[in-house]
Amino acid sequence: MDRARITIFDTTLRDGEQSPGCSMNVQEKMRLAHQLDRLGVDVIEAGFPIASEGDFTAVQAISAAVRRPVIAGLARACAPDIDRAWQALKAAARPRIHVFLATSDIHLQYKLKISRQQCLEQARDAVRHAKSLCEDIEFSPEDATRTDPEFLYQLLEAVIEAGATTLNIPDTVGYCTPADFGQVIENIHQRVHGIEKAAISAHCHNDLGLAVANTLAAIKAGARQVECAINGIGERAGNAALEEIVVTLRVRPDQYPYETGVVSEQLFVTSQLLSETTGVSVQPNKAIIGRNAFAHAAGIHQDGMIKNPLTYEIMTPQSVGVPDSTLVLGKHSGRHALSLRFEQLGYQFDRRELDDIYRRFVVLADKIKNVTDQHLRELTREPREAARRIPPTHVETNSAATAAAATGGGHFSRPFVAENPGPTMSLTPMPEHHSEQEDYLWGV
Ligand code: KIV
Ligand code: ZN
Repeated sequence: MDRARITIFDTTLRDGEQSPGCSMNVQEKMRLAHQLDRLGVDVIEAGFPIASEGDFTAVQAISAAVRRPVIAGLARACAPDIDRAWQALKAAARPRIHVFLATSDIHLQYKLKISRQQCLEQARDAVRHAKSLCEDIEFSPEDATRTDPEFLYQLLEAVIEAGATTLNIPDTVGYCTPADFGQVIENIHQRVHGIEKAAISAHCHNDLGLAVANTLAAIKAGARQVECAINGIGERAGNAALEEIVVTLRVRPDQYPYETGVVSEQLFVTSQLLSETTGVSVQPNKAIIGRNAFAHAAGIHQDGMIKNPLTYEIMTPQSVGVPDSTLVLGKHSGRHALSLRFEQLGYQFDRRELDDIYRRFVVLADKIKNVTDQHLRELTREPREAARRIPPTHVETNSAATAAAATGGGHFSRPFVAENPGPTMSLTPMPEHHSEQEDYLWGV
């Protein structure tokens, strides 16, 4: 069965760039645009050409150099903005002018100081003008979700008539819940005459942490384009995170039988490039691309992961471009993880020896946050020399003290950590196995 295709409209370089601390110069935007091309997004919104010389140049340079995706430029609903956007975009293989105008009463009254009728006429005239320059026109009624629905339908009909081919519905202030936003899209589908001539798009902000959920609700309700940004960057709390939307569609085709053109293996490298470029790092527990997204700290989880990664992972790290899962050695770790790390360091112990080392490891891990390879080596020295001489209770106290005194030694190798990695290791299978129940208890 053919799956419907969802157009991925990436706005990292426009709405994302509006995020505090995330502005990029022309070279940086170019580098990101090439990576977004490799990632396989369908549309790159490269900037807001009238906003600055730099943004104009960036949109122009990206239009000339990145030929596969559609390149979009943002414009307010007025001729100078639209003309400027067109100047920047006209060299693109597939240019799109993205025109927007606020439509909610609160924006009309306080920000624009125009009536609904003036708003409707301005939107229609702007789209007509844009259409005279470019075939592919997107229109966004800013603050759509707080706009009177009847007025919204009327305005959307007017811009379709004027030539808009994509109608983007922004939840500008991130106020909607998934049920609300799904209903908004559904109603537009049902109520707007001529809607079959245009694609419906969703643009969700994350003020309530619901941007991705709202975007997915929009897809279910008939949206066929989604606007999103790498790492979820964007105004205030950000936009819907591209990586979360794409991977949800991948992991849950039972709920979302749709496909995208995104090469998911490129997600992690794209996220890293953006963080490096802007200097804005990703929260460690961020879904898909956060440093902890494939890291396991609890002994029970580590034990499960060593036996079969399906116990605690719903996708492989490699499927999103992360080199490997990692087990973090700390006070919650179990014997399996410890033994595996020792093997990677070139040590092998019988069960009694490991039991002994493990007890001292836990004492140490309780005291210090990062147990390094150097600490582990210290732990190995104690039992070999001392276990024969000193009764076990003393071994425990003495060697813990020795190990705790050790400093430095670096972290375990972690292939995908950006900062403050802590003690971690890649996951490889355990060679030795015992009876299932015994193994489970021993492992934690
Ligand atoms: O959030 C918003 O309303 C926007 C529009 C310009 C699409 O970013
Ligand atoms: Zn926005």
